Amino acid sequence: MNPSQPARLVVLISGTGRNLQALIDAAERDDLHARIVLVISNRPGVQGLARAEAAGIATQTIDHRDYPTREAFDQVLGDAIAAVEPDIVALAGFMRILTAEFIRRFEGRMLNIHPSLLPKYRGLQTHRRALEAADHWHGASIHFVTEELDGGPVVLQGRIAVEPTDTEETLARRVMENVELQIYPAAVRWMADGRLRLRDHVAWLDDTQLQTPALWPLEESTEDSPTP
Ligand code: GAR
Repeated sequence: MNPSQPARLVVLISGTGRNLQALIDAAERDDLHARIVLVISNRPGVQGLARAEAAGIATQTIDHRDYPTREAFDQVLGDAIAAVEPDIVALAGFMRILTAEFIRRFEGRMLNIHPSLLPKYRGLQTHRRALEAADHWHGASIHFVTEELDGGPVVLQGRIAVEPTDTEETLARRVMENVELQIYPAAVRWMADGRLRLRDHVAWLDDTQLQTPALWPLEESTEDSPTP
């Protein structure tokens, strides 16, 4: 990463792109410390692509259905990402399982957002599973992407109380609005500032090994401290 330049960020999406929009908005406020150089979707015509285009960001669609194997798709996807030399790759609602080869190519630079309090509820239908388990708390997590599906070191989590009246839809909306849209820009900014690193399969924030994920809202002691 070149400290005099904002970090180069590639965002991978498959759909609505609300998390992408939060990253775009943070970048426009100069809050991200990163420039989104490319948005790639594996699905044509999704709303996230329109959001990127409206913000003047380059987009590419690489439709997984055009490739005979997962390996062939991941090769083309990986080449498109590598071509723009990103410092950070953010999966934002990217609904594809990635091959180990692809993950190794970008390991340590790749983050994912997952709508659960990992390690709970890897995979799909996280909101329904939290309700079925009568959990008191639910939320979302940012983690480094490693070869284990939704299993890489978790760096930041935010949680909300599950209300007795919650349905899958209300819970999903509250997790999105109150947690997801807040935590992804914060974690990308840590990466952009060189504060967050993956070393020997362990996440480090500054000089601290993250034994447990940081919790949103953050108590940032190193930032915004008054100058003497
Ligand atoms: C988000 O809730 C994200 O956490 C989830 O997909 C949604 C995408 O919404 N990702 C996963 O489930 C990944 N396993 P968005 O496109 O509007 O940001």
